[in-house]
Amino acid sequence: MQPSFWHEKWASQQIGFHLGEINPLLLKYWDSLSLPSGAQVFVPLCGKSLDLCFLAEQGLDVIGCELNQSAVEQFFSENQLDLEVRQSGEHQCYSTEQITLYQGDLFCLPSELISRVSGFYDRAALIAWPEAMRRQYVQQLAKLLPAGSKGLLITLDYPQETLNGPPFAVSHDWVTANMSEYFEVIPLSTEDVLSENPRFVKKQVPWLTESVYRLTRKG
Ligand SMILES: C[S@@+](CC[C@H](N)C(=O)[O-])C[C@H]1O[C@@H](n2cnc3c(N)ncnc32)[C@H](O)[C@@H]1O
Repeated sequence: MQPSFWHEKWASQQIGFHLGEINPLLLKYWDSLSLPSGAQVFVPLCGKSLDLCFLAEQGLDVIGCELNQSAVEQFFSENQLDLEVRQSGEHQCYSTEQITLYQGDLFCLPSELISRVSGFYDRAALIAWPEAMRRQYVQQLAKLLPAGSKGLLITLDYPQETLNGPPFAVSHDWVTANMSEYFEVIPLSTEDVLSENPRFVKKQVPWLTESVYRLTRKG
């Protein structure tokens, strides 16, 4: 998607992707990564997700990247976090004790900034890209993440012709075919989530599944 698409969504607060709670799949599967307290974790396309707070509460140092300035500002103000703001190359860097968000384009993020991360979390990031840009995103993620870093990936799959994304449908076959070059891919779960997603029910999408994968960046 073009940046203007997301800026318009944030400006009009059409942010149906934002959850008012910590993602239950993060709560269920994060521990399986066994990251030590104090480890750095990267959250691409982080929005103003409360999952950032959960990760910080686990004793982790969280680094996010988000395009939209208002999203980043809303994250800090809604969670009543003191913040410092400084320029970091092409990005604005917003930070509080354990959370640092780089506001700007993921594709311009210098890899040195996340060279010490050992974990990552992709929820509604891979599936935010249309198929034509998805591989480019995977390549950028692989370029940024150090070898050996471990993370969770959460995807949705449904018959793409029945609904315009985002979120876009990403099948298990797509993940295996396009990500295995860079990541060891272990499927953890797949659940039917149609009834919990009224937008999909209303559009008569016949099925909708949500999957979780454990990924390890190959060395
Ligand atoms: C579907 S939302 C998901 C947000 C978050 N992961 C969540 O679970 O709530 C995708 C987010 O990616 C941001 N985004 C889109 N393109 C981006 C880019 N090139 N670099 C950084 N962030 C981007 C958008 O502004 C939007 O907030």
